[in-house]
Amino acid sequence: MKKVVALLGSKRRVNTYALLMQIKDLLAENDIDLEILELYRFQIKDCAGCTVCVSKGNCILTDDVQQIMEQMIKADGIILASPVYLQQVSGKMKTFIDRTCSWYHRPALTGKPVLCIATTKGSGLKPTLSYLENVATQWGALNAGSIGRSIFNLEKPIGKREIARFLQLLDHPESYVPTLHQLIEFEVQKSLALTLSELDRAYWDTHKWIHQPYFYPCRRTPIKRAISGSIGRLMRKRMGPKAGDRRSN
Ligand SMILES: Cc1cc2nc3c(=O)[nH]c(=O)nc-3n(C[C@H](O)[C@H](O)[C@H](O)COP(=O)(O)O)c2cc1C
Repeated sequence: MKKVVALLGSKRRVNTYALLMQIKDLLAENDIDLEILELYRFQIKDCAGCTVCVSKGNCILTDDVQQIMEQMIKADGIILASPVYLQQVSGKMKTFIDRTCSWYHRPALTGKPVLCIATTKGSGLKPTLSYLENVATQWGALNAGSIGRSIFNLEKPIGKREIARFLQLLDHPESYVPTLHQLIEFEVQKSLALTLSELDRAYWDTHKWIHQPYFYPCRRTPIKRAISGSIGRLMRKRMGPKAGDRRSN
């Protein structure tokens, strides 16, 4: 049985939670289990900004974040669900995301689809969902799209079509076609890994990403290949071997 983990960024079990419960039922019809992690019920300290997680691989803080990250790594798919607070994700969701900074340098969720959910009274849906989708991409995950609801359509049940892509990527992650933006982001991450730290370089080496155009074999048009490839080569040339002495972040 496949397992999906959802992170809920609301303290209440109201609008965003209700969407997750609908998705839980839809996933159950496909023999997929959904576990909802309500972030407000966990201890999630503010990032200290020390970047030790990036440079050494461990976080100096002791709380529940490591456990949540491990649950995400073990899951087959992820859902990020947040209410819109002042045009963005809730503070709790953002605080958790800040703590995953090392996943930008050493992506840990490659091959896992991420579905993004947000609810709002009326505004901020687009930037909030777009932010969550970008975070998923930076984690190296597969962007399975997003579902948003406002007061105008909050009562509209989530349709099977809205989670179809997520289901398809759960079964066939290899069918994912990265966008040009994602291919370029990969080249930037690769360039940083090759020049900033031995830890990152070894991680990328172990995962055999250094000589690949993306985290896994995928279809690319010649134009996408040419643009992302040249941006990557240019970056690595400009950064040079001495870039390894610079501090990350
Ligand atoms: C602190 C706070 C900030 C909010 N900011 C916005 C906003 O910028 N735009 C908006 O349309 N709704 C805003 N809302 C309304 C919520 O996004 C909306 O009610 C949401 O569906 C609540 O989700 P929940 O029931 O899962 O907590 C805000 C609500 C709160 C509590």
